Amino acid sequence: MANTPRHFLDLTEMPVEELRNMLALSSRMKKTLKANEPAKKPLEGKVLAMIFDKPSTRTRVSFDVGMRQLGGEAIMLTGTEMQLGRGETIADTARVLSRYVDAIMIRILSHEALLELAAHATVPVINGLTRRSHPCQVMADVMTFEEHRGSIEGRTVAWTGDDNNVLASWAHAAERFKFRLNVATPPQLSPGKQMKDFIRATKADIHLGHDPEAAVTGADCVVTDTWVSMGDKDGEHRHNLLKPYQVNSKLMSLAKPEAIFMHCLPAHRGEEVTDEVIDGPQSVVFDEAENRLHAQKGILAWCFGERA
Ligand code: CP
Ligand code: NVA
Repeated sequence: MANTPRHFLDLTEMPVEELRNMLALSSRMKKTLKANEPAKKPLEGKVLAMIFDKPSTRTRVSFDVGMRQLGGEAIMLTGTEMQLGRGETIADTARVLSRYVDAIMIRILSHEALLELAAHATVPVINGLTRRSHPCQVMADVMTFEEHRGSIEGRTVAWTGDDNNVLASWAHAAERFKFRLNVATPPQLSPGKQMKDFIRATKADIHLGHDPEAAVTGADCVVTDTWVSMGDKDGEHRHNLLKPYQVNSKLMSLAKPEAIFMHCLPAHRGEEVTDEVIDGPQSVVFDEAENRLHAQKGILAWCFGERA
């Protein structure tokens, strides 16, 4: 009987020691790459299938380049071009792909579809974003915070915007890595029962509210995201609700003077963040985007049993 594959589905699925191990692998490989030193190729001969049911720039390119740097390669598949788009089940897709490839990364809105894929795959499955969560992103975010400001433990991260997948992964990270998360959302776009149950069950240091100024005051890091996630209906109503949650210089000035600004990108400049902030001295958004590559190399190597 084969061992259970090492899936990467959500930050809550793994003990923090494992997450720390992935980050240590990521940092080590990043240092080797930056120093132009000869790198180990732990994924030599391995193939990653990447299924994208939704658009992507960062996730797609960083996984592809990451696989090449690790000695393997990636195959790009889109939901509509696959038989998945004509009704083949996720379970059968998982069974078939497991016979060809060594790991699967999927971006699909339905979190249940991700879990179904993982349940039937005999190779590791990686969550490349669902409506519920975006764990690869927040691994890169934790890595970025710690590179700029040291350990995230005991620090305060402020989220201002709507309730979405990136926020859910930040909440999972707050619980695992033990930092405080202040959340400000409009009442109509607040986290639902799942998040509230999670906070209650884990006693994580997460504070839900509606006042962006209160959330940001004294924070070490300010985070926001698009007001219209993939799968959301765009509209004036949504924009009007979210306008007071924009990260601009006035809001940013309430955070600690040394606070950093993060955004998973793509950004909608002039909406959730002003040019002044995203292009300003506190913004680390392009380091954060770069770290998608390094963090995912750590995740991929971990999936194949590498240890730091
Ligand atoms: N941040 C992020 O996941 O970007 P992409 O949608 O471009 O992959
Ligand atoms: N919350 C955004 C993240 C994009 C990377 C979305 O789901 O569209």
